[in-house]
Amino acid sequence: MAMTGNSGRGGFSNKLGFILAAAGSAVGLGNIWKFPFEVADGGGAAFLILYLGFCFILCYPVMVAEITIGRHTNKNPVGAFKALKGGGFTIVGLLGIISGFLILSFYNVVAGWAFGYFLEMVQGNFGIGQEFGSFTANWQRVGFYGLIFMAITAFIVSRGISGGIEKAARFLMPALIIMILGLMFYAFTLPHAGEGLSFYLVPDFSEITFDVVYSALGQAFFSLSLGMGALITYGSYVSKKDNIVSSAAYITLFDVGIAFIAGLMMFPLVAYLSEGDMASISGGPGLIFVTLPGVFESLGPVLGIIIGSVFFLLLSFAALTSTVSLLEVPVAYVVDEWKIKRSAASWLVAGLIFAIGVPSLLSYGASASLSSMNVLPGVEGGVAFLDLVGFIANDTFLPLGGCIISIFVIYKWKRKNFDAEIEEGNPGFKGSFLQKYLNITLSYIAPIVLAIIFLLTFLNLYFGITLL
Ligand code: PFF
Repeated sequence: MAMTGNSGRGGFSNKLGFILAAAGSAVGLGNIWKFPFEVADGGGAAFLILYLGFCFILCYPVMVAEITIGRHTNKNPVGAFKALKGGGFTIVGLLGIISGFLILSFYNVVAGWAFGYFLEMVQGNFGIGQEFGSFTANWQRVGFYGLIFMAITAFIVSRGISGGIEKAARFLMPALIIMILGLMFYAFTLPHAGEGLSFYLVPDFSEITFDVVYSALGQAFFSLSLGMGALITYGSYVSKKDNIVSSAAYITLFDVGIAFIAGLMMFPLVAYLSEGDMASISGGPGLIFVTLPGVFESLGPVLGIIIGSVFFLLLSFAALTSTVSLLEVPVAYVVDEWKIKRSAASWLVAGLIFAIGVPSLLSYGASASLSSMNVLPGVEGGVAFLDLVGFIANDTFLPLGGCIISIFVIYKWKRKNFDAEIEEGNPGFKGSFLQKYLNITLSYIAPIVLAIIFLLTFLNLYFGITLL
């Protein structure tokens, strides 16, 4: 297989390979597990509209910026900022690596739940939904699932870019699309589908509070894998012949499209179970784990097992292409900067992140003190350690990373260098509307809006101060 990346580090075999792998990074638990419960908690369609606005207006330009930095430097996030004489900006690369550690440490726990649920569905154990609490509290068992998941992730990353990451995405992504579309059409046929869809699609703007705004922004960054250099890293394996702006557009559309479809699938299912009473649904991280097995059970034993198993397999596949990208960020760093072999680096870093994830693993019932921590003044009641890591990484680190990356490309690396790199593989870029749009958003809109929301979120979450 031809490798088009530069500098002997391997690379994606072509543009489609890159798009699938990057879309695989973006599409994950964020779309299918997190997005629906964030929508439910954020009041439905109002959250959806904010999320879509953030994705297209702010995140798309940041994605172009990340991929461009990566392709120009052929480096991991820290190496990339160093190569561009980023000075103090190099700290963003480091923040990215830390975010990768933090996110993967809790993400892998949830991926382990999804995998465990798949095994339960295959056996027709629909009662697991009612036992979600005791399922997650059984840390030996979910820890074992998490260990398997991390091992599969490390194995794929150890095989490199075209032979591991891209190969997995080429199989997993089409499988995921077929499964999710099938489930969506099925959900439409159920009673009360209409009530679920109107909750999801008809906005009630009185639902918008500042919490909803920052959650939608954090979700947009998390879902698109932005702000921590994952796309700097993937961008470093992209060919100079590829068109970055169109690739980024496909990745964004793909990710947003899958999240949107996940909502179209989920809310009719939830409405079916609650008999159309959408006010009664409890969101939160348990949404799909608590609610869906009941839905599957009501479909009868045979259909229930088939649909239930397909759903949780889909969730596991989606999670896998994302855990791979989360692990790739620190692995690329260790391989590039410390000159350690890829296979050793993959297993070593994966082991370390698994260990860092132990408190998250214990925080859904196994340890009472980790399950309800009163450390975030901005959040009512106690938060589980797993969710605490999510708040810190997703809602503050990622938007901060996005803000600084925008400032970096325009003001430090300089607009003309940034534009020149994009022009490679895209000769029509100069003078185009897209060029102006990207320049304006990255110069003014993204830095200002992201800085303001970051500051307000920081004050709100960590100090309980609400200015808006
Ligand atoms: N985008 C992934 C999801 O939605 O599940 C999560 C993720 C992957 C976040 C990679 C950040 C990242 F770098």
